[in-house]
Amino acid sequence: EKGGYETFMEKEIHDQPAAVRDTLLGRTDEDGRLVLDELRISEEELREVNRIYVVACGTAAYAGMVAKYAIEHWTRIPVEVSLAHEFRYCDPIVDARTLVVSISQSGETMDTLMAVKHAKDLGARTISICNTHGSTIPRGSDAVLYTHAGPEIAVASTKAFVAQITACYVLGLYLAQLRGQTYADDAKQVMAELHEMPEHIETLLASTDRVEEIARFMADSRSVLFLGRHVGYPIAMEGALKLKELAYIHAEGFAAGELKHGPIALIEPGQPVFVVVPGPDTPHGLHKKVVSNIQEIRARGARTLVIAEEGDEDVVPFADEVIRVPKTSPLLQPLLTVIPLQVFALHLSTAKGLDVDQPRNLAKSVTVE
Ligand code: M6R
Repeated sequence: EKGGYETFMEKEIHDQPAAVRDTLLGRTDEDGRLVLDELRISEEELREVNRIYVVACGTAAYAGMVAKYAIEHWTRIPVEVSLAHEFRYCDPIVDARTLVVSISQSGETMDTLMAVKHAKDLGARTISICNTHGSTIPRGSDAVLYTHAGPEIAVASTKAFVAQITACYVLGLYLAQLRGQTYADDAKQVMAELHEMPEHIETLLASTDRVEEIARFMADSRSVLFLGRHVGYPIAMEGALKLKELAYIHAEGFAAGELKHGPIALIEPGQPVFVVVPGPDTPHGLHKKVVSNIQEIRARGARTLVIAEEGDEDVVPFADEVIRVPKTSPLLQPLLTVIPLQVFALHLSTAKGLDVDQPRNLAKSVTVE
């Protein structure tokens, strides 16, 4: 049942190419237009949407943060991401033109379910992005967009995460198409790139030796920091969460732009810092800005573990380690940059002799508030 792997988590990491492929399957017609008949909310209603909330917890909320960048870019609809357990208490501004998108692997997370209920009471349209057929959250929503990652057993979420991000891209492109946005012209190109992702993930998974080695060397670390910007920011948070869950190491992910607003005070000689670097073509000169962040922390003695695209040589002078990912367009990069961080956490946990699939104090689905 573990497909020849030692742990479910390792198997599920290797299931990721299929998780992305299967989540894309059957969602375009012969002309490359997105078809989401399964949504059960009328096209008119979706065209009327003028605000989106994403509600989710943990890793699913990080998928939602990635979704915000993509959906706002493609549709120009404002998107707010709310941790499901905070949603009700922030007195959300919700009416019939609000679309509330919940993201949940299990479909049973009580906090997320309660957020969806609250949204419905306020008159919102609700869509559930979910990995478990017939579970409670999709049943309580107006519509569902299933992720097809297959059952996820390990407590730490991996393949559900990449499938959630994939589904969010599909939803964003579909909404753009419905609204006749010019961005929808690019939808075919984005879909074509998404279809290449499974192969890219396979390439990454075939070359994890160095990441495994780094993880083993770092088994005694007391704290690891993760920096990212734009869609790399939620990936930094996800990298930190994986490490907390699996290796019980203090880890923190933050937006690289925040460094000089406080966190740089944490940098002392030897402090390991992972940095997720946007591709050199990312708009607004973000690549250059992150490279100078790496330079700043390196100058203060940080040990820099840099995740950068193939061919990005600018990072080399300031990196103690460079972990390469295939080139892709800026918004899609999270599907690739998260992979080495998952592999890192898995191997660090193994190196410490911990229970990878069942970390202490955690449950696979949190069915109490
Ligand atoms: O089943 P859900 O997607 O609703 O679960 C949400 C979180 O509890 C979950 O992602 C949790 O953060 C994982 N343990 C992360 O690895």
